[in-house]
Amino acid sequence: MANRYAAFVVLALPVLLVACSGSSPSAGPPDGAALFKKHCASCHGLDGKGLVAKIDMTSPQWQSAHTDEQIACTVKQGIQAKDKSMPPFKTVLKDDEIQAIIKDMIRKFGKEGK
Ligand code: HEC
Repeated sequence: MANRYAAFVVLALPVLLVACSGSSPSAGPPDGAALFKKHCASCHGLDGKGLVAKIDMTSPQWQSAHTDEQIACTVKQGIQAKDKSMPPFKTVLKDDEIQAIIKDMIRKFGKEGK
């Protein structure tokens, strides 16, 4: 009887592990598009042309004036100004998530919006 139980555990365990990893939302590389939609689109627009934030991320001028490093820095620190403020994301987003947002969304705006 005890042996049967052991056999059940050995067979069932891999099945349970597969089920868990399949449903975990944080598995795999970060999805920059989903993160942008969740954290940024309310102010920058899903198309990057700006809603609350009056900047157009699709413009070639804006794209060439900002390096990835500068963008990452702004996102981490936010912007504190009376008429235009953006929350800091350094405790909300990890570095690789910020990089994914830049690569998957912000740089794509530049390629699409000519
Ligand atoms: C609460 C509104 C708000 C949210 C949310 C927001 N931003 Fe901003 N963001 C702004 C405003 C306002 C500015 C300044 C626009 C201006 O210069 O007129 C700005 C500016 C920027 C700039 C340009 C900085 C520069 O030096 O020109 C970048 C890059 C940026 N945001 C990225 C992001 C990203 C990425 C997210 C999501 C992680 C995000 N923002 C979320 C309001 C927001």
